[in-house]
Amino acid sequence: MNLLHIKVSPNLYGSASREVSDYLVDRLKMKYPDINEHVLDLSQEPLPHLDGFTIEAFFTKPEERTEQQQNAVKLSDKMIDMLFASEVIVLSSPMWNLGLPSVLKAWFDHVTRAGRTFKFTETGGKVGLVKDKKVYVVMASGSVFSSGPFVSHDQFTPYVKVAFEYIGVTDVNIVRVDGTHDPLTRKSAVPNAISSVDEMPI
Ligand SMILES: Cc1cc2nc3c(=O)[nH]c(=O)nc-3n(C[C@H](O)[C@H](O)[C@H](O)COP(=O)(O)O)c2cc1C
Repeated sequence: MNLLHIKVSPNLYGSASREVSDYLVDRLKMKYPDINEHVLDLSQEPLPHLDGFTIEAFFTKPEERTEQQQNAVKLSDKMIDMLFASEVIVLSSPMWNLGLPSVLKAWFDHVTRAGRTFKFTETGGKVGLVKDKKVYVVMASGSVFSSGPFVSHDQFTPYVKVAFEYIGVTDVNIVRVDGTHDPLTRKSAVPNAISSVDEMPI
């Protein structure tokens, strides 16, 4: 079974999201010993933001693309191929400024492509083409967003759920590492997240 482990935090030592997603992946490996993990570390190999040339290449039919346009879509194709090749995706990330770090947004921009991961229907709707994936999202935040006054400020988890759904992935399981800087929760944030991983049906 192929597992794609996407890591986003630039904090290589002491990252709460990395610690919890590593724990989750270890748990998955214990349950499914045939797991083949592929790590995509976006903090070490950030994807470029989409530019006009690349977008034009996306919208040019593959057989009509120039050599430069073929090169421009290669990275996006690679990210999409990785996604299709994986049965399980574990994504770990910090919340930044209430939402996604831009390297993670860039990943969604590269994998959300008409004709490859979603298609338009004749009636003007859209259908996701990435089927039968299980996704775990480990999201670390300095403040608490699962309850209390900031619940409605969380732009990360709603976006990620809808962005995956858009390309056809509906089995999205969120693990919060909640309140890594809050004086009341900073000591318990990681242990609580690990307990929630232990309690998750996997
Ligand atoms: C640039 C930046 C923006 C942040 N924005 C928020 C935020 O909007 N809300 C929040 O609760 N924490 C915020 N934080 C705190 C991180 O989410 C928190 O430190 C988290 O534990 C980082 O994940 P990591 O430990 O895996 O690196 C921010 C941190 C940084 C560096």
